[in-house]
Amino acid sequence: MAAAEKWTRTDGCGALRPANCGRTVTLMGWVQRRRDHGGLIFIDMRDRSGVVQVVFNPDAGDAFAVAESLRNEYVIAVKGTVTRRLEGMENPDLATGEIEVVAEELRVLNPSRTPPFPIYTGGPLKEVDETLRLRYRYLDMRRPEMQRNIILRHRAAKATRDFFDREGFIEVETPMLTRSTPEGARDFLVPSRVHPGEFFALPQSPQLFKQLLMVGGLERYFQLARCFRDEDLRADRQPEFTQIDVEMSFIDREDIIDTTERLMQAVFADTIGVEVTPPFPRLSYREAMARFGSDKPDIRFGLELVDVTEVFRDCQFKIFARTVASGGTIQGLNAPKGASFTRRELDELVEVAGTYGAKGLVWIVFEDGGIRSPIAKFLSETEIDALKTRLQVKMGDLVLLVADERQAALEILGQVRLFLGRKLDLIPKDKFSFLWVVDFPLFEWDEEEKRFVSVHHPFTSPLDEDLALLDTEPALARSKSYDLVLNGYELGGGSIRIHRREIQERIFKALGLTEAEAQDKFGFLLEAFEYGAPPHGGIALGFDRMVMLLAGQGSIRECIAFPKTQRATCPLTGAPGSVSPRQLEELSIRVAALPSGPEKPDAEG
Ligand code: AMO
Repeated sequence: MAAAEKWTRTDGCGALRPANCGRTVTLMGWVQRRRDHGGLIFIDMRDRSGVVQVVFNPDAGDAFAVAESLRNEYVIAVKGTVTRRLEGMENPDLATGEIEVVAEELRVLNPSRTPPFPIYTGGPLKEVDETLRLRYRYLDMRRPEMQRNIILRHRAAKATRDFFDREGFIEVETPMLTRSTPEGARDFLVPSRVHPGEFFALPQSPQLFKQLLMVGGLERYFQLARCFRDEDLRADRQPEFTQIDVEMSFIDREDIIDTTERLMQAVFADTIGVEVTPPFPRLSYREAMARFGSDKPDIRFGLELVDVTEVFRDCQFKIFARTVASGGTIQGLNAPKGASFTRRELDELVEVAGTYGAKGLVWIVFEDGGIRSPIAKFLSETEIDALKTRLQVKMGDLVLLVADERQAALEILGQVRLFLGRKLDLIPKDKFSFLWVVDFPLFEWDEEEKRFVSVHHPFTSPLDEDLALLDTEPALARSKSYDLVLNGYELGGGSIRIHRREIQERIFKALGLTEAEAQDKFGFLLEAFEYGAPPHGGIALGFDRMVMLLAGQGSIRECIAFPKTQRATCPLTGAPGSVSPRQLEELSIRVAALPSGPEKPDAEG
């Protein structure tokens, strides 16, 4: 038998328009849906470019017979003629809705088993377990929504590279097998076979390498860099993720901020056509905490916090009076029109505060007859009036109060604020509110380790005017760092770095590192600083988070082709998995007895 004639694809399904009518085309793609109607067979045929309707007439002979056997997700090739649809039969929801392809020949390139979940639902995918989607990611990826996210990711990467190229930055790859870089998470370790008992760490970020690139005279570096952090996962956190990593020499904070703002402008314009306008507003860390109870405030809505400690200094309500006396604070929030909340809704607010560690949340409803509150009988007229003034209370408002040590009270009420913002529908969709948070403290006290740890990382420069505090009151020293916040997400963070050995050594000392430890871990950096290190600084932006926000998604997993589950597994490949005794032996590794219990339950299904 003669070999079948070779077919060459001529068009994308989704690209056909009335202008193509009369042309014979060869399409290749998937069967999205088959409908049999009055002797005709209609196939919605899909490829990456979109969907087109293909019609089989009974007089198409063999093709009609084969079309009868088609099932969803079969891969097919069709030869046919682009034809205008009959009047009244157009589909305005489809880009190709004015035409259809009348099939003359059909080939089945590959059949398909019935997919474990529908690829086409005619709407959003509902009630499909995410683990199942990840187990069959290659099917999930056929859904237009997923394709859109992945293509958007590509466009964002392209826009980023184009921007930095125009600005004279060089993309440099840094090692994956390296030493630990402290970014505050656990390392993923890779055992060395050649050096038994020794380990590489996968980079938590390219931090030290990008600084060494500055010492190396590269001046302007960027990289779409893969980073690895073994930390608790959330909707915006993955164990491996991508940063837009940047470092520049001979610059100050304003240069980094300006470059980053213009990068955002370019990426948002090139990917989703949204205009963002620098300069972005700025808040000091202290003000962000005071007004929003967060170091990454969502400023798309108000509902700001107010310190009402003074109102309750001599209050009859013992808990408040005691908190104030012991140096704590009372933080308040006015939820306008909150008086209409039911008792259950009020209890829910108390519960929300509780999940963030509140010992209590006091509510006060302001209504015509006066106030209603569990602590009403303890409050004097003066206190109520003062509260009204401080929180600009109107009739029908609801005031919420948290008493605690300042930071804790702010953080708890900040979470209540976010909850209320969502509940009261105060957060405008389709709005992008960028914000810089600056002047972070250099250190924070780690109660567990009983020592100071860096708020950013140990290579962050202190503010010049706070240098002296390093030896006297380290807790008060502020840093030359900045975070970029978008809609309540920490999109990026960076700082001006230390570039002199003696200051870097003072920081290591303040962090409780002995000279020997500093030398062992970071000797190579300290040494590099002695060979003419230029002043430098940089930033890293969470690329996955940025794409998630561009795509209007609520989880970065929607914008990563093959993400891990919340339990850090890959249901598709079954990773992580065990290895053979021989591999372990080669690596000089013996595995201790494993804790019993179900192994990776989310990898099943
Ligand atoms: P930082 O640790 O703040 O800074 O990280 C920068 C940005 O990376 C994103 N990010 C993550 N995204 C997804 N999953 C994760 N597990 C994850 N962790 C962080 C966030 C974050 O703002 N070397 C410094 C930067 C510098 O100083 O230049 C660094 O890595 O969006």
